[in-house]
Amino acid sequence: MPPKHFLNTQDWSRPDLDALLTQAAMFKRNRLGDQLKGRSIALVFFNSSLRTRTSFELGAFHLGGHAIVLQPGKDAWPIEFDLGTVMDGEAEEHIAEVAQVLGRYVDLIGVRAFPKFVDWSLDRQDRVLEGFAKYSPVPVINMETITHPCQELAHILALQEHFGTTDLRGKKYVLTWTYHPKPLNTAVANSALTIATRMGMDVTLLCPTPDYVLDERYMGWAERNVVESGGSLQVSHDIESAYTGADVVYAKSWGALPYFGNWAPEKPIRDQYRHFIVDEAKMALTRDGVFSHCLPLRRNIKATDGVMDSPSCIAINEAENRLHVQKAIMAALV
Ligand code: CP
Repeated sequence: MPPKHFLNTQDWSRPDLDALLTQAAMFKRNRLGDQLKGRSIALVFFNSSLRTRTSFELGAFHLGGHAIVLQPGKDAWPIEFDLGTVMDGEAEEHIAEVAQVLGRYVDLIGVRAFPKFVDWSLDRQDRVLEGFAKYSPVPVINMETITHPCQELAHILALQEHFGTTDLRGKKYVLTWTYHPKPLNTAVANSALTIATRMGMDVTLLCPTPDYVLDERYMGWAERNVVESGGSLQVSHDIESAYTGADVVYAKSWGALPYFGNWAPEKPIRDQYRHFIVDEAKMALTRDGVFSHCLPLRRNIKATDGVMDSPSCIAINEAENRLHVQKAIMAALV
């Protein structure tokens, strides 16, 4: 039996993840079904989205279900997540009631809640997602908090399609940090590291300095996955050696955790590493490597037009796959 919730792929067994990927590939071939007939999902967005919102709403529709989008603080009441607090601030209701009430109406709850970017020791607790999971009587799906497990499956399905095999063991996989003018969430990087090692690939985390290494929880998951799945994991700060011979280049920008909440001193550091952009010269070092990104992506900041428009870029396939994998997740959980 898979877990009740889909909060992180690390909670799910490899056979259960493989079953989701198989089902997603089937939904890609045959889009419509009745797996959610008469069922509904609440999509709770604390942050903006293009892909996640569109693909979840359409995915529910394709399977005969109904999706309701809620944006706490905008079109729904602001929510309190702390226990035992005197609620004399902005929040009008507590997660204990919100999750239970939604659970009386809907069959699934999706949650998108990015970090607040003030205190990583708090943000790493993933309290919004965990609050929903704790109080909800129905399954909860992580639509991106401090990890992005739906993106992980869409990414892996796109790689399986590209390589024509479900077995990705032995592929040289580079997760590269890229420049961005703002410090971004580590969620997709945490997720890419987690799922790439889970699939048994030889993974290099390429980042400018040791300050950009990811949280110990996700480094630990990756190390454990390497032991169990037979791949490898290394951290590199050398662009040329990391790209050389790579089969996969996955790009993401993120803020350095030692500067979390105190970003001013990080800016002059990150400004030195604009050359981490994925460009044609770097891709030429790979072994006819494939490039992807979760999107949204700032062109000619994170990757050049030449890379984005090249046949080796599968970012659009990956984005499409969000629709298929999320249908598989929703169908499995109901
Ligand atoms: N990749 C992704 O989650 O895109 P959105 O932020 O547009 O949903």
